[in-house]
Amino acid sequence: MRVAMIGTGYVGLVSGACFSEFGHTVMCVDKDQSKIDALKRGEIPIFEPGLDEVVATSVKSGRLSFSTDLGPAVKNADAVFIAVGTPSRRGDGHADLTYVFQAAEEIARSLDGYTVVVTKSTVPVGTGQRVQDTIRAARPDADFDVASNPEFLREGSAIEDFRRPDRIVVGTESERARQILRELYRPLYLNETPILFTSRESSELIKYAANAFLATKITFINEMADLCEKVGANVQDVARGIGLDGRIGSKFLHAGPGYGGSCFPKDTLALLRTGEEVGAPTKIVTAVQQVNEERKVRMAEKIDAAFGGVKGKTIAVLGLTFKPNTDDMRDSPSLVIVPWLQEHGAKVRAFDPEGMKEARKHLKFDECEDTESTLKDADGVVILTEWNEFRALDMARTKQLLKTPLMVDLRNIYRPDEMAKAGFTYVSVGRRTVTPV
Ligand code: UDX
Repeated sequence: MRVAMIGTGYVGLVSGACFSEFGHTVMCVDKDQSKIDALKRGEIPIFEPGLDEVVATSVKSGRLSFSTDLGPAVKNADAVFIAVGTPSRRGDGHADLTYVFQAAEEIARSLDGYTVVVTKSTVPVGTGQRVQDTIRAARPDADFDVASNPEFLREGSAIEDFRRPDRIVVGTESERARQILRELYRPLYLNETPILFTSRESSELIKYAANAFLATKITFINEMADLCEKVGANVQDVARGIGLDGRIGSKFLHAGPGYGGSCFPKDTLALLRTGEEVGAPTKIVTAVQQVNEERKVRMAEKIDAAFGGVKGKTIAVLGLTFKPNTDDMRDSPSLVIVPWLQEHGAKVRAFDPEGMKEARKHLKFDECEDTESTLKDADGVVILTEWNEFRALDMARTKQLLKTPLMVDLRNIYRPDEMAKAGFTYVSVGRRTVTPV
């Protein structure tokens, strides 16, 4: 099959490279000339484990190429994927669909022969219909269908998620479109990955509902963590205790500083706006979104309390990205926590294994090159992201480096009893605070 992938952001690049790994011929298109030039030189604009290898192998096989020219890519394609950004619109939180409709209009001009146009970008219910209307208005003669095929890729494990998804969702009423998508996902189909065919509207909603549900699970356990702290319970035991119930499941029950990233914050907001608009308010999602926003400030206050007031203190921060194995800073809790600490008189020095370049675009702080130099002579350390290299710190050395043996661990990567034994005051999330024994 011949595929045109419009947009070489995170989703477009991963999907394009992986489709070509499946044996299809893929042309990835982006308006950004410098990005396309870089990709042609073999440079990957984002940090995603394994992506460079898949891209290199596919380019070498001749099945993956890059271009700024949408026309020829669309003209030759059996399937055209729209994988452009749908950021939150400033002011109202609705998904901004400017790029989606721009792409639809450009695609319309070049359609040649039967083509299925697939929205992979996360778009509100009804967008598929509007894309179809846009293309139809521009090209009354064109032979095409518009399908929805949401992605469920997690940053940091996107390649693995593409190769071994829990399910594939395809929304279309057209048998011809279904046939092409079935063929595109054939290697997974043969592996017995469930392919769920639904209406376009259901497919569009599945993406939002999945993200909102996961965000709810996280927010629920975060609230339980607050409760645990008040009543002397341990949130990890509570999570395990409820998670072993097959109806609940143990995943996405790690308490922390609140969810961030490119999807959950913007998708929960967009979903609740849609609910308001159509007269079916999603009260649970609304609460989740609010609680999560407030939580980031609560976490800064928690750090303040642990330090006995951060004013005049030097704080070592380990991790800035919204989660490990990515350089993505979008909606990371650090974007709220670090400025809060600074506004309250703290000096922040920080280190992130992959996120420094992105972090410096959004935050001002003393940049450190590694963990040791971050810790040296600080009044305490705060763990904001659970990168592997922060999971096995030598505590004797850490204690030596810090002025005060104080750790605030917002990801619960250490055990309170061991930290107490190692001589630390250790504050974590939803577990008792311990002092040196
Ligand atoms: C998410 C969805 O998982 C994915 O299916 C969708 O396509 C895009 O959004 P991603 O944002 O890459 O993926 O990361 P994910 O691993 O889901 O984590 C999102 C946020 O939730 C992170 O801030 C993470 O730290 C937080 N989280 C996750 C928790 O706080 N606790 C958990 O138990 C799980």
